[in-house]
Formats: sequence, structure tokens, C-alpha cells
Amino acid sequence: MQKLVIEGGYPLSGTIRISGAKNAVLKMMAAALLGKGKFVIYDVPAIKDVYTMLGVLTTLGVEAKLQDSVLTMEVDQVSGDTPTELVQEMRASIQVMGPLLARLGWVRIAKPGGCAIGDRPIDLHLQNLARLGAVIDESHGFITARCQRLTGQEISLDYPSVGATENIMMAATLAKGKTVIHNAAREPEIVDVQNFLNQMGAHVYGAGTSVIVVEGVDQDHLGSTEYTVIPDRIEAGTYLIAGAITQSKITLENVIPQHIQVLLSKLLEANAKLTVGLNRITLEGGKTILPTNIITLPYPGFATDLQPQFMSLMTLADGSSVIKETVYSHRFGHVEELRRMGANIQVDSNSAIVRGVKQLTGARVKATDLRAGAALILAGLAAKGTTEITGIEHIVRGYEKLVDKLRSIGAKIELVSEG
Ligand code: EPZ
Repeated sequence: MQKLVIEGGYPLSGTIRISGAKNAVLKMMAAALLGKGKFVIYDVPAIKDVYTMLGVLTTLGVEAKLQDSVLTMEVDQVSGDTPTELVQEMRASIQVMGPLLARLGWVRIAKPGGCAIGDRPIDLHLQNLARLGAVIDESHGFITARCQRLTGQEISLDYPSVGATENIMMAATLAKGKTVIHNAAREPEIVDVQNFLNQMGAHVYGAGTSVIVVEGVDQDHLGSTEYTVIPDRIEAGTYLIAGAITQSKITLENVIPQHIQVLLSKLLEANAKLTVGLNRITLEGGKTILPTNIITLPYPGFATDLQPQFMSLMTLADGSSVIKETVYSHRFGHVEELRRMGANIQVDSNSAIVRGVKQLTGARVKATDLRAGAALILAGLAAKGTTEITGIEHIVRGYEKLVDKLRSIGAKIELVSEG
């Protein structure tokens, strides 16, 4: 088993280049199943989730490889029978459902399990694929969906689900007629997938707003494309918070400030100084961290994927902050672990009251999910003494070269084998 060991209390300094967005590229890999020919995607992060999706695509018949951040995929004939173990390993595998159903007229997939942050149902995906004409059967933990050709419809999402928006948007590209998705999620990654689909020959408009329109095309209308994925806004936000919590001056390159506008304003409120360029941001952490309240919401609200990291920052604020999590039902797994480091946090339903303390103390803590793990790393960077973090299999899913990037700006962090 491996663990991260961090010697806390050292200021950081230097520049980090942000990698391509995990939550965009995973969906583009699924979207490629709609097309045919050779796809090349640049700036793809070498992270576990990308390799898991590579495994899913390979099992479906795609020739795929990732080398030096360049992902190449050859799509010809594909199967609709998805690999159970890999699908159960990563919830995002569900995103292949829309493309396979639209292309083949059938798909069989293991029902994705819940995870540490909530039970994460896929009812909005299934309800609305059925609205497009799919016949859905759920039995023995598997979902089978069949259809003749899907038919475009007016769709209204009960909740702006990112995954449901993307699954429906992708399925609708091959439906007969027009599909309009109302109350669509507006995340930047969805805009990236729209651009990727349109470069393949699809006709999708409105991504980034709450109304997305898809004019269905015939299968042979969709080809292949080359594309560079947008920078990962959650990775960028995580490293900015690392600078703030260690009262350091760091610079990020390859970042789109507009994608983390709300975080930037909250970091200013917390007394950080920011210099924002076109695709770079310099943060100078304030000597005092000011208490700042956040409420997580679908984009463009405060990103739920940055809530644990921001909570770590607030544990050292000069006062009390309220952190409300409205997207997931159980996204406070990091609270108990932060308490072990001396944080003072009370949780009441989906709100946490964080009373700032003078100092955190290094401890042995466990990552329960990807972003909770990131939060513990940030706390460890600021804590007095040594912090050991287990459960790092969660962390490597979503942060490319995390230890290298942190060491390059002066963090005392290493990956150690244990037992
Ligand atoms: C995407 O997950 C991201 N993952 C998540 O990032 C992110 O937290 C989430 O969007 C919200 O921004 C990927 O893109 C791979 P949702 P997704 O459908 O699509 C409920 C990370 O750390 N819901 O918008 O699964 C659901 O239970 C990960 O990188 C239903 O009830 O998110 C949740 O409470 C974690 N029924 C809420 O909606 C459904 O059919 C948001 O889920 C679908 C979702």
C-alpha cells in the first residue's frame, strides 16, 4: 500500500502548468464512439480515470493509446456490451451509454455504484434516453437499453445534471430530428464536448447555457477530429488554494480564469491577492486568512469539486465560516479527517460551520474520495509536523503528476510504500 507523507509549514513558490480537464476528456472519449476513423486529442492527463476509460473503449473495439499527453483512438466497429468491472470502477463510464445506444441501437451496462460522496443515481439519464425512444430494462444490476433510431424531443431536466446533459446531448446527435434540452447543466466541460462533437460533424448549439439544441444527423455524417482539451479548472482551483493556505506566492499557467470566477472572488474575500492574465493566474496568500462562506451550486456557482479544498483553507481562517453543500448528499467525508488534524468543524445536515484555529497539526489521515484527498494534502502542506495520507488510489484518479508538481514549487511531499 502507498501513502503520501508531507512535512508541513513550508512556503511554496514557483509556477505550475495545469493539465487538460479530466471531466471533459472522459466525455470526448465516449463521444468518439459516435464517429468513425482516427481521433487525436491533445493535452490529455495521464491519470487513472483516463486509463480506465481507455480500458472501456478498448474492450468495446476501439484501438486507443495515450502517449506524452496525446490520445489517439481508431474507431471502426464497436460493441454495445460494456466491460462490467471497468464500468463499476468508474462512474463516468456511464457516459458511453448515450453514444452506444445512438450508434448501435442497444447497449448493456452495469449499473454504476454509489460512492463516498453520495448514492449518485442515474434516473435523469435513463428517463430522458427513454424520452428519446429507448426501451430501458434494469435487472440483476445491469441496464439494457434498446431502440430503433432515436427520435428528437423536447427534454426538461429536473436537475441540471452534468452527466445526464452530456449523455442526452451525445445520444441526440444521431436522433431523427431536433432535440432541445431545457435546464441543461452549463459546465465548461460541456461546451468542450459540444465543440468536439461539432468538429466530428454533429450539429449542437447552446452548450454553456441552460438550453442546448441538437439537430440529429445520419451516422455516416459523423467522422473523426483532432482536438485540444480545455485546462482542468478543478486542478487549477486546488493549486490556488494550496498557495492561499500556505501564504505563498504561486503562478498557474494554462488556466482559463473565467472557468473559476467564483473561486477567485472567494479567494479575494479570504484575503488572497490575485493577478489574473489571459491564461495565467498569480496568487499571493494573505498573512491572515479571512473567514468566507460558500454554497456549492451547479456551474457557474461555487464548484462542489472545490468544496473540500476550500474547507481546508477555512480551518485556518481568523473567524468562522459556513460551508453549504447542495450538490451531493454526503460530501463531508474530509471533515472527520480534518478534525484529526485539529480543525474545529461542526456539521448540521448539509452545512458545516468551520471555526478557524491558529494551527493544524500533522496526523495520519485517510482520503475517502478524490477531492477529500486533495483537501487533506492542502491541510498537510499548512500543518505543523508530518501528515500521512492513505487512500491515495482516490487521489491519483484525478491529479496528473501531483507529487512532482507540488515538489516543483517547494512542497515537502513524497509517495512512500507502506507495509
Ligand atoms: C460530474 O459528475 C463530475 N464528474 C463530478 O466530478 C462533479 O462533482 C459533478 O459533475 C457536478 O459538477 C465527471 O464529470 C466525470 P451530476 P456527474 O450528474 O455528472 C444527482 C470529480 O471530483 N443526480 O451533475 O455524476 C447526483 O446524485 C467528480 O471530478 C441525480 O439525482 O454529476 C448529484 O447529487 C466528482 N440523478 C447531482 O445530481 C441523475 O440521473 C449532481 O450530479 C444524475 C445526477
